[in-house]
Amino acid sequence: MWGGRFKGGSSDIMSEINVSIGFDKRLAVQDILGSKAHVTMLAAQGIVSNSDAAKICSGLEQVLAEIEAGTFEFKTDLEDIHMNVESRLSELIGPAAGRLHTARSRNDQVATDFRLWLRDEIDAVVPAIKDLQLALIEQADRAADYVMPGFTHLQNAQPITFGHHLMAYVEMFQRDRDRFRDCRKRLNESPLGSAALAGTPYPIDRDHTAKALGFDRPTANSMDAVASRDFALEFLGAASIHAMHLSRLADEIVLWMSAQFRFVKLSDAFTTGSSIMPQKRNPDAAELVRAKIGRIAGAFQSLIMVMKGLPLTYSKDMQEDKEPVFQAVDALMLSIAATSGMMRDLVPQKDNMLAAAKLGFTTATDLADWLVQKKGIPFREAHHIAGALVSEAEKKGCGLEDLSLEEMRLISSEIDESVFEVLSVEASAAARKSFGGTAPECVRKAVAAARTELLAE
Ligand code: ARG
Repeated sequence: MWGGRFKGGSSDIMSEINVSIGFDKRLAVQDILGSKAHVTMLAAQGIVSNSDAAKICSGLEQVLAEIEAGTFEFKTDLEDIHMNVESRLSELIGPAAGRLHTARSRNDQVATDFRLWLRDEIDAVVPAIKDLQLALIEQADRAADYVMPGFTHLQNAQPITFGHHLMAYVEMFQRDRDRFRDCRKRLNESPLGSAALAGTPYPIDRDHTAKALGFDRPTANSMDAVASRDFALEFLGAASIHAMHLSRLADEIVLWMSAQFRFVKLSDAFTTGSSIMPQKRNPDAAELVRAKIGRIAGAFQSLIMVMKGLPLTYSKDMQEDKEPVFQAVDALMLSIAATSGMMRDLVPQKDNMLAAAKLGFTTATDLADWLVQKKGIPFREAHHIAGALVSEAEKKGCGLEDLSLEEMRLISSEIDESVFEVLSVEASAAARKSFGGTAPECVRKAVAAARTELLAE
């Protein structure tokens, strides 16, 4: 492609470090779409003849068919996807192929391909997360009144409902989807026609190619267009945040499956056995989802380090932009699918959750609130009385609700029979009816609202 000046061949090491076809062949479809839009515009502007443009378009279609059929031979000596496609095109249609690269450069070409590719991936990620949200909503609906311990510091804190716990993730995932959609908005500008870095003297029509490729508009500065990869970083940022959320849910599944919790069961579909311990059922899928953030957040680090300090405009460093993004997308899509699968497979164990909710004096706050609301005692003092009752129950090795009225009255004479109404974990959860609270009736409302919102999209 640059044979005019170069006579000697490049060294093997040079080829090895320079070649990108091994990974950028993933941009093949987008590369061909971009080329078709470009040559159609060139013909419309009278820059190439209609007959050459028609030949180029049908040749490109043939190349695409070969790629889709798996018969296309990707050649490493042709360096990257752009040159592989163009070279095959010239084998197919002859010298007219040489007109395709008029008024463009691989610099605007690769920036265009990459944006098109990432846009398609965002369009796959967003509905995949929605499917996961729907799976969570179904479980939350069924388990709206399953009482379990809610934790702070992973210590039993207050009774909550399993439905409420799951709906917390529905909220996180909604923001995650918004972040991807927001990234798509900024990404959706066409670099094509920026050429190497400065634009082109040919009378091209950048609006034409932008429209043909589904971009909202052409990028406004040719140097920014070929030098910027913040669209990919933004995607990786959103992906890292989503992977972080997935890792928290995955970790909870691991905990919930353990013999100490027994809050959920997963079937054979999402667990594995041990080759040595016959009794084992391991939550491997959840563990791997928990781990995948390593690659995804690592991809962000990798790309931001590649871009840091690069002077404008394009430098070959930027060829290192694609692999981290490809890896992150693969890891993310698989993690989302595995999490949706687990959420549909998972069977919550209502009785075990309830038994666990009763451990750790989770209604001590309810007792203090009762002293405040029914007896007019200041909260600080009520907190102190409830603490003394917890200590008494702990000494006796029983729950708060198992203390007798006499035992309670020895600590505070204000206490009467009606205190028992607030000491059950079910009553505690049901009482938390404030907007966004854990009461089953609130969970059912949240489920209905989320369902309506998601299905309306
Ligand atoms: N394979 C290159 C990349 O991915 C394409 C752009 C090459 N541009 C250049 N001036 N050498 O970045």
